[in-house]
Amino acid sequence: MPAGAEEPDSLATLGLAYQRDIRPLLERFCLDCHSTQQQEGDFDLQQFAGLEQVRLDPQAWQKVDHMLETDEMPPEDNPQPSSQQQQTLQHKAGKVDHRTTHSGSAVCPEK
Ligand code: HEC
Repeated sequence: MPAGAEEPDSLATLGLAYQRDIRPLLERFCLDCHSTQQQEGDFDLQQFAGLEQVRLDPQAWQKVDHMLETDEMPPEDNPQPSSQQQQTLQHKAGKVDHRTTHSGSAVCPEK
């Protein structure tokens, strides 16, 4: 592993973080618009019940990561996560993105 890379979480750890930290926040702030029934922007977040599903569709998750990073979602006239919730989401979603997009074989350098 290259020095200075972010510590690689195991998939098990990430899976737990997803269930415990990410999913409830998505449910609270995103699923009103991005449920399987209500797919605003043609985007269904409810389908990501766990890390397994996320790994099947890394591109979609990249978009989520991007939206969180750029603060575009939730739309500004809707309930916003507290700054701490925002941080948690962004940080953990970023890790999941890293890990799923690069299929865990290598840890890519910080952007
Ligand atoms: C009030 C409704 C609403 C909420 C809440 C909401 N979104 Fe969205 N979202 C939209 C709409 C409408 C679009 C499509 C238009 C646009 O891109 O602005 C969209 C688009 C997206 C897209 C882009 C889909 C694509 O294919 O480009 C992503 C990713 C996304 N939302 C993620 C999220 C996440 C993550 C959250 C929660 C943190 C969230 N959204 C909360 C309404 C919402």
